[in-house]
Amino acid sequence: MSHNTIAINQQMDTFDGHHSVWLFGYGSLIFKADFPFIERRAASIRNWSRRFWQGSHDHRGTETAPGRVVTLVQDAGAECYGMAYLITPEVFTHLDHREKNGYLRLATDIFFEDGDSALGLVYIATEDNEAFLGAATELDIALHIARASGPSGHNRDYLFDLADALRELGKDDAHVFTIEQHLRQLPST
Ligand code: BEZ
Repeated sequence: MSHNTIAINQQMDTFDGHHSVWLFGYGSLIFKADFPFIERRAASIRNWSRRFWQGSHDHRGTETAPGRVVTLVQDAGAECYGMAYLITPEVFTHLDHREKNGYLRLATDIFFEDGDSALGLVYIATEDNEAFLGAATELDIALHIARASGPSGHNRDYLFDLADALRELGKDDAHVFTIEQHLRQLPST
């Protein structure tokens, strides 16, 4: 699959006719909401885990030296914590462009902290996209992140911002926090 997913995402019609849609953010959307939203609530989705397995050629790396950013991988029984935004459909045009490097929209149940839930959307980069890098140890991921940088800034700042945002939400994520620990012990370049 080509890693430019804009056209595929714009064909999705699950929420056609809706005036607002919940979007679940688990990566940069937690700490960088550069779009208008009606409401924002801490939330989670089930049976997915966050992993630094997606290559970033356009934000935290380059074509020749991609960085590593998060995607979700299926994981029965797991719960992934993040932030849900109630947005109008026009905002998806902005997000489809911002996240065009392999991320597809998927409809999913979103669970709010107060026990309420709603059907919404999440962007996921699956393993069949060209930018997918796949599994590596947390130490290798940290070593990779330590040397990557792109138009949106240093890859390590993406990791640190995400770890800080999860701490602010009061949520643990062993994968993210282990990479953070390794990264803090590496010299910054
Ligand atoms: C997110 O933060 O939910 C997100 C991460 C990567 C691509 C799109 C969205």
